[in-house]
Amino acid sequence: MTLEPLPAAPRINPSILAADFANMQAELARIASADFVHVDVMDNHFVPNLTFGPQMVERIQQTSPIPLDVHLMMTDPDRWAPGYAELGAASVTFHLEAAADPVALARRLRDIGARAGIAIKPGTAAEPLFDVLDEFDQILVMTVEPGFGGQGFMPETMPKLRALADEARRRGSDVWLQVDGGIADQTIAQAAAAGADTFVAGSAVYGSDDIEAAVTRLRAIARAGSLEA
Ligand code: DX5
Ligand code: ZN
Repeated sequence: MTLEPLPAAPRINPSILAADFANMQAELARIASADFVHVDVMDNHFVPNLTFGPQMVERIQQTSPIPLDVHLMMTDPDRWAPGYAELGAASVTFHLEAAADPVALARRLRDIGARAGIAIKPGTAAEPLFDVLDEFDQILVMTVEPGFGGQGFMPETMPKLRALADEARRRGSDVWLQVDGGIADQTIAQAAAAGADTFVAGSAVYGSDDIEAAVTRLRAIARAGSLEA
């Protein structure tokens, strides 16, 4: 395994859910200046939408110029998530609501060599994670209901993000705090001010004519937002 240095915060992870699925190689090349490619795996069961599975993610892994940040919106991640770590994803995030044994699964993902992430939906409390922060490399606070791109950012999730950031600071944890859903020029500063350091953006990146400029702008606004915190 090659140990590349990890990208520094603020990290911008474009979501290929907003890309043209028929031109994936070209769509991946367009985001070469971003930090990670965010790969939304949906099983039509945990969420009411279906995207792709391990075969497609493996081709993305082989083709992408930047490392993979896999977001598993599926039931039974205990069974399926390790396969995504094995195919080489840099980080694998599963949902707390779906996992039978989140800590055991995170340990397996780390053993395989991936960063272990745990995601919570807007209505899920963060407190159960406080005592196990060290077991994870990343916590994903969903800022929309998972399932679809292009939805509106939910500002009511910000107090939960702030509480997680405070708790991580109090414990001296270096866990990354990620937000996903409705992240754009107008919303990224408030997420950064609440403590996010890693930002998923689908439509805001792929909807732009100049992707490199969009990524640079999102990073700059996030950096300014985090200074306001
Ligand atoms: C939603 C997905 C997101 C989605 C974000 O369930 O987890 O990653 O692609 O898309 P935007 O940025 O368009 O809200
Ligand atoms: Zn996602």
